[in-house]
Amino acid sequence: MFNIIVKDTYDEVSLEAFKIMHEVMQKDSPVLGLATGSSPVGLYKYMIRDHKDNGTSYKNVVTFNLDEYIGIPKSHEQSYYTFMHDNLFNEIDVPEDNIHIPLGEGDDVEKNCLDYEEELQKYEIDLQVLGIGSDGHIAFNEPGTPFDSLTHIMELEEQTRKDNARFFDDDINQVPTHAITMGLASIMRAKKIIIIATGANKADAVYSMLKEDKNVACPASILQDHPDVTVLLDQEAASKL
Ligand code: GLP
Repeated sequence: MFNIIVKDTYDEVSLEAFKIMHEVMQKDSPVLGLATGSSPVGLYKYMIRDHKDNGTSYKNVVTFNLDEYIGIPKSHEQSYYTFMHDNLFNEIDVPEDNIHIPLGEGDDVEKNCLDYEEELQKYEIDLQVLGIGSDGHIAFNEPGTPFDSLTHIMELEEQTRKDNARFFDDDINQVPTHAITMGLASIMRAKKIIIIATGANKADAVYSMLKEDKNVACPASILQDHPDVTVLLDQEAASKL
């Protein structure tokens, strides 16, 4: 079930996301599902400010990230490992041992998928943060991904690589071709989900997610079956609704 909130600015959208995060953070040991990309950065800024100003502690928090590129090392400046440390983890007090990020390097990434899913299954995510790709992907589950998928390897669509080229000197050739990602069924296990989408280039994907029949052509449409999803939009992303 969708609760749709439309705000005027990205900052207001981020504040709404933070309010939901803040509520979940009142639990004793929250388990957070975290996302990369531009969409959650404003939320992460609010979390950092709240940690520094109000002392909200992440010592008992466990985190699981959605995805990671394959073919660049963890230490690469555009790895999702680096992104999460730069944009959140280095600024709060979450213990490094409590952080889980899929591993896109090593001899056997298939095994990394199984290991990640096994660890994930030991927990129940209290709040999963999502963005949405312009082709309707969530995490790195591209169109056509089965709804019952668990953590797996995904070949990225050209559109996704184009969208993400801005992080790689605007050069699509530098964007990895594959990624390791939580599956759609892995994501659906979360108790509560927020999905953040801003800007006109998300309007079609948002429309398909909310208004078209559930279909693997729009991976985000699986969220129609989830009991507790808050969709946080700006006017542009909501413009086709
Ligand atoms: C990326 C990530 C997704 C993200 C999406 C949108 O490729 N794998 O997790 O939600 O694309 O990114 P952005 O928020 O930068 O628009």
